This record gives sequence, structure tokens and C-alpha cells, in this order.
Amino acid sequence: MNLIENRSLKDCNTFGIEVNARYFAEITREEEVVPLLSSLKPDQRPLLILGDGSNILFTDDFPGTVIRINTKGIAVLNDDSEAVILRVSAGEEWDEVVEYCVEQGWGGIENLSLIPGRMGAAPIQNIGAYGVELKEVLLELEAIHLETGEPRTFKREECRFGYRESIFKTTLRGHYLILHVTLKLSKKPQLNLEYGSIRKELDQAGNSSPTLHDVREVVCRIRRSKLPDPSVNGNAGSFFRNPVIRSDQFELLKKQYPSVISYPDPNGVKLAAAWLIEQCNWKGKRTGDAGVHPDQPLVLVNYGNATGQEILDLAALIRQSVLSRFGILLEPEVNIF
Ligand code: FAD
Ligand code: EPU
Repeated sequence: MNLIENRSLKDCNTFGIEVNARYFAEITREEEVVPLLSSLKPDQRPLLILGDGSNILFTDDFPGTVIRINTKGIAVLNDDSEAVILRVSAGEEWDEVVEYCVEQGWGGIENLSLIPGRMGAAPIQNIGAYGVELKEVLLELEAIHLETGEPRTFKREECRFGYRESIFKTTLRGHYLILHVTLKLSKKPQLNLEYGSIRKELDQAGNSSPTLHDVREVVCRIRRSKLPDPSVNGNAGSFFRNPVIRSDQFELLKKQYPSVISYPDPNGVKLAAAWLIEQCNWKGKRTGDAGVHPDQPLVLVNYGNATGQEILDLAALIRQSVLSRFGILLEPEVNIF
């Protein structure tokens, strides 16, 4: 396996942060994983597994080995009149998987259209958008332990999925490399049109019997209008999670701020972090090349040559304002290294 030394990671993270990996390897065949892990010397660790780097903020050079997963393949494991079961390699681009499924008429992930990143990263934070989360279609995933090289299959329940969360972001953080994800998609899909402006857009177009393809189109259009394109201005999508607070806490907040934007949540009430940040007057603010997006303040932006530390300093100031004003601590969604 070819280890590259001191490789720039600028083209491997959508924030476009200029840092180096001490060592860098690209995996294109799954058989390469275990030999690579066993060949690494102690000074070539720690390891960082990378997809498209669309949910990462690098604040410094990475001192060990970055392993980018580029394995490809979608295999049909089962196909009947109701559903299809797919085993997808970790290096597949997520949105290409969505597009393929929509073309085949297999439903379940059309609302997750246009989320950047690769298949292997999708379970890490249980990607979600427009009322759907990956956990709804994921049956199991196959992973390799980074220290022992042992394979392990995690059933859906073992992944402990939550909102932007899984066991791979908490207790098993940094311990496994995900190689394959198995998804179950429906041939008789129930479209989920209730979130945000999906139904409104379809109604405006006079479309009363939308197809999977129509839903994908609408989601892509809404996303393009709301979120900055990382190839124009570096970003990693929402920098923070939307905070979930207790219902009694929410009642007090609502009395003080009747316009607060909220959603029901199994654990209390979810607040729109974008609203909280906007109220603290951060929208469109910029220090050097680190900025808060002018339309969607939950997205922090690298306008050119910001360092990861500058983005992190900006995030810390935003957190402090929201905490002082509302008593709510925003948690980063982005993985910080
Ligand atoms: P990376 O950023 O490369 O990695 C993310 C984390 O996963 C890291 O900790 C990494 O070590 C780990 N990892 C990656 N691959 C593997 C693997 N094979 N095995 C083990 N660990 C691995 N997310 C949403 O949920 N919903 C959205 O709507 C959404 N919109 C976005 C919009 C934009 C414009 C951007 C830039 C990002 C958005 N995101 C969204 C975040 C991001 O797209 C997802 O988190 C995506 O799953 C990250 O994939 P990646 O391949 O880029 O992962
Ligand atoms: N809003 C404001 N001020 C603004 C912008 C938005 O008050 O300047 C309000 C909007 O009016 C809206 C609310 O905030 O009522 C929520 O905004 P939006 O619909 O844009 O969604 P979000 O909560 O900011 C979440 C996810 C996104 C996902 C969308 C759609 C999180 C952290 N973010 O964003 O995911 O695409 O919903 O489902 O949950 C990501 O995870 O990276 C990501 C982009």
C-alpha cells in the first residue's frame, strides 16, 4: 500500500482548509484495509477515516495517517415485489446512490437527495433532511476495528442512532472503519411530503400525484436555494445541531420570545439554531475570511484562506452569544480535528 507523506488535505475537505496529513492512503479495494492496518507502525497512528470531508473542520495538521475510502459497488442482495435490499460500498457517493435508487423506482431516501459525502460516513451522524433519516432504511453495516482489524456487523439497533448521532460519534468514536452499508428500499414507497416547503412547491407546480423523481427534484431545488455550494464558498453544512430543550424550559423561552422557531421532538422541543444565531445578530458577519452565511446563519463559511482555528474561534463567539442571551449551549455537528 502506497503511503504518501505530508499530503495537503485542502482538496479533501469542503471547508477548503489548508492542512497536511503526516501520512495519507487511499483505499480502492476492500481487501486492502486489513493489510494496511497491520502494516502501520505506532508512529503512523492515530488514524482518521475520510470520505469527502464534508462534515469535518481541520484545525491543525493531522499527525498520523488519513485513510480515504474510495471503494465502489452496489449489490442487490434481495429483490421481491415489496422491497429491495442493497449492500453499498463505503466509497460510493451518497447522492449517486440516491439518484440510482430514484431511477429504479426504489423509495425511502429521495428526501435525502443532494446531501454531500460518501456512503460510509452517512451512518456516522445518521444523515437527515426533510423529515427523513438514514436509520429508517439502514438494516446493518459492516465495519473493521481499527486496532485489531476484526470485522464486525452492526445491526440497526446496535448503531444507537439519534438526531445527528450514532454510536460511532459517541462511545465508538474513531474505533471503526465502515466498509459496507445495507439498505432496504421500498417498491411501494410512501412519499414524505410534509416537511418544510416540499408540498407547497409541488402544489404550486400543480403536481398532485408526485413521483420519487419529482420529490428528488423539489428537494434538490430547495437545497440549492438555501445552502451555499462548497465549491464556491467553503463550508460543511450546518455547523451546529439544532438544540433540543425540555418542554418546561421551552415554555419559559416562548413567553419571553414568542417568535422562537421550534419543532416537536421525542425528547422535548427542538429549536431552530439558525433563528437563535440570527437573534444574536451574527447573520452575514465576517472576520477576515471566516464568516456566518448571510442567508443561513447555521452555516459557517470559509471565504478564501481562513484557517480552521479562525472558523473555530468564530463558532466559539457564536456559542457564547447564544448561551448568554438564551441560556442554550449549541453543540457542533461538524467533526473537529
Ligand atoms: P467526512 O466529512 O469525510 O467524515 C465525517 C465523519 O465520518 C468523520 O468523523 C470521519 O472520520 C467519519 N468517517 C467518514 N467515512 C467513514 C468510514 N467509511 N468509516 C468510519 N468513519 C468514517 N448532513 C446531514 O445530515 N443533512 C444534511 O442535510 C446535510 N447537508 C449538508 C450540506 C452541505 C452543503 C454540506 C457541505 C454538508 C452537509 N451535511 C449534511 C453534512 C455531510 O454531508 C454529512 O455529514 C456526510 O455524511 C459527510 O460525508 P463525508 O463522506 O463527507 O464524511
Ligand atoms: N431561519 C431563521 N433565520 C435564518 C435562516 C433560517 O430563523 O436566517 C429559520 C427558518 O425560517 C426555518 C428554520 O430556521 O424556520 C430552519 O431552517 P432550515 O429549514 O433552513 O433548516 P435548518 O434547521 O437550519 C436542518 C438541518 C439541515 C437540513 C435541513 C432540512 C440540522 C443541524 N440541520 O437545517 O442539515 O438539510 O434542516 O431538513 O439539523 C446539515 O446537517 O449539515 C444540514 C444542512
